Amino acid sequence: MNYLGIDTKQLQGVADRLNQLLASYNIYYQNLRGFHWYVQGKSFFDLHKLFEQYYNDAQEEIDDIAERILTIGHNPDGTLHKYLDKTEIPESRNLLSDQEMARHILHNQAELIKSMREIIKTAASVEDEGTVDVVSGMLSKMEKKAWLLNTWSDNRGKRMPNPT
Ligand SMILES: [Fe+2]
Repeated sequence: MNYLGIDTKQLQGVADRLNQLLASYNIYYQNLRGFHWYVQGKSFFDLHKLFEQYYNDAQEEIDDIAERILTIGHNPDGTLHKYLDKTEIPESRNLLSDQEMARHILHNQAELIKSMREIIKTAASVEDEGTVDVVSGMLSKMEKKAWLLNTWSDNRGKRMPNPT
């Protein structure tokens, strides 16, 4: 039964973009885990904890994205090689300073934000309001995370590039 009331073929473009977001989110998740383990120095307690909060949120969001793809009648990618193939954000090296870690995560978040906005536009164009709703909720939360991290960076006297 087509419980959506939208032809699933019309949702192929939305599913493709969601799979791209899923791929990038998985790399973002792993970048955060690496930074959580490797952060050192005066910022250890701040960033060790913050990165843990961010990857725990990312884990839930990854599940929400994958299950949204299933809900709209398509298949979420589930392998690391597909994620590496489709991701729009790079894997980060772990041996970075706290400021560099913050900059890398801000850039990752900026890419995710861009990708979410594109999904919202694509989903709205085929009247897939459910996807618009799911991704809009993630978008505003990710924007807040980027603001918090950007503010933390500024407070340490070195302005980070605007994540746009
Ligand atoms: Fe831990």
